[in-house]
Amino acid sequence: MVLDGAANFAAVSVEPRFMNEEIFRPVSYSRTTVSELMIPAYANFGGKIHGGLLLSLMDKTAYACASKHCSGYCVTVSVEGVEFLQPVEVGEMVTLFASVNYVGNSSMLVGIKVIAENFQAGSVKHTNTSYFTMVAKDENGNLRPAPGLILETRDDVRRFLEAMKRKELRQLYKRELNNAKTNLELESELPHLANERCRLLHQQVLQ
Ligand SMILES: CC(C)(COP(=O)(O)OP(=O)(O)OC[C@H]1O[C@@H](n2cnc3c(N)ncnc32)[C@H](O)[C@@H]1OP(=O)(O)O)[C@@H](O)C(=O)NCCC(=O)NCCS
Repeated sequence: MVLDGAANFAAVSVEPRFMNEEIFRPVSYSRTTVSELMIPAYANFGGKIHGGLLLSLMDKTAYACASKHCSGYCVTVSVEGVEFLQPVEVGEMVTLFASVNYVGNSSMLVGIKVIAENFQAGSVKHTNTSYFTMVAKDENGNLRPAPGLILETRDDVRRFLEAMKRKELRQLYKRELNNAKTNLELESELPHLANERCRLLHQQVLQ
């Protein structure tokens, strides 16, 4: 990590910085806010806003944020932490706050906080915070390096460090899951089904 103008974070400009021939951009350069009014056409059969619509809005916002950071095309690789904590109603204004939390080589982790504002009730609720990993690609579809990140605030530093932890845990989880799948022996695991809400159709299902 390079401390850029450590004595004066506020003086960091929005122009790309060149450090050791590499481009670095401040978090604020690509911070993105998107608002959209939830109209009846966005509702599901239960009258609440469709989860898929919110996912699409989040994906577009993540794209805008990452694409601005890397000045070009990027694609979504993975999405973490999508849990809708509260339903969104028709008539509410949904606002998505996105910023680049972390940059690897070609990858950028974009954190997105989603809130829904109900003007009639005068209330604001936090619906979810999710993390989109995007990678920068060139015109031939090959990975290309994303600019480094200039951390301007304490929150930027915290988010970067949290993202590093998240990456480490994701790799650990992937390894553990692969091990568990490779070593899974159906017969010896059968007792674990005893308290689950399932039944074998007949004993021959394992043959
Ligand atoms: C994701 C993809 C780029 C991985 O390609 P790859 O050749 O395996 O490359 P790598 O393993 O080097 O991964 C590239 C980067 O993605 C990151 N990455 C790969 N899989 C990841 C995952 N599941 N979650 C988070 N990051 C991931 C890697 O950490 C790496 O980051 P870095 O460049 O900052 O070090 C490739 O599979 C791809 O292009 N997928 C299609 C993505 C797409 O089109 N999305 C649109 C939605 S349909």
